[in-house]
Amino acid sequence: MQTFSTPESLGPYIQSLRNQGNKLGLVPTMGALHQGHLELIRKSVEMNDHTVCSIYVNPVQFNDKQDLINYPRDIDSDIEKLSEHGCDAVFCPADDIMYPHQPVLTIDFGRLEQVMEGRHRPGHFGGVALVVSKLFNMVKPDRAYFGEKDWQQLIIIQQLVNDLSYQLEIVSVPIKREPDGLAMSSRNQRLTSDHRAVAGELFSALSQVKNAIEQHTDLQSARAIGINYLKQHPAVQLEYLEIVQAFTLDAPAADLGTEPLSVCLAAMLGKVRLIDNVQVFID
Ligand code: PAF
Repeated sequence: MQTFSTPESLGPYIQSLRNQGNKLGLVPTMGALHQGHLELIRKSVEMNDHTVCSIYVNPVQFNDKQDLINYPRDIDSDIEKLSEHGCDAVFCPADDIMYPHQPVLTIDFGRLEQVMEGRHRPGHFGGVALVVSKLFNMVKPDRAYFGEKDWQQLIIIQQLVNDLSYQLEIVSVPIKREPDGLAMSSRNQRLTSDHRAVAGELFSALSQVKNAIEQHTDLQSARAIGINYLKQHPAVQLEYLEIVQAFTLDAPAADLGTEPLSVCLAAMLGKVRLIDNVQVFID
């Protein structure tokens, strides 16, 4: 596996692969790789001739300085995992390479970022869109892979691709879960053992909301079931639990029809902020 740290060294490698007609997959990550990331790598290796993984903890998407400082980093173990999983190249730029100048561009996704993560983390999605655009421009992938755990991010990145006419396909990959249902996340390793013991309750709450909707409980009551369930676990400080239309992130219409819904939440467990979601298909 080859390692690159600048767009200048990565560029000729990408160009020579393209000249030979190879299909290129990009897996953007912030490192501290877990099975969820490795699933993205597996998918990309299966669907493309070459896979590039980027590892970059993007400062401009963190609205909380402490969160950026505490974000787990383990580059040596990441590189080992990537090469074991058939990744062809890893791109790990430093901050001054990714941002040689203080960016002035702001990207606003309008109503898509006025709910859930966007509402609780102002500027977060603008920062994600900026770094993802840079990566798309540097790697010029045919396909890029994103996990469904960050459901709102996935919808926003698809919007970015549509609005800026990037000639690439976004491939979404289902959430990988621990045996108790906890969605895999780099942040999980920062949970204390007490918080880890209750972290699976997030998925239990989402599953109860999903079951209630599938049994045609009205959405307000279904949402209350999840919120009340988590109130029984004081170690879980719920930030939000919302039911939205899965692909527009709008509030569901009164007449639900057959539009899939997404039940999304964010919660603090001690100092660690976790997000999760489930999709609900109504027949
Ligand atoms: O999902 C992530 O890990 C990050 O938001 C991403 C897409 C790599 C951009 O920094």
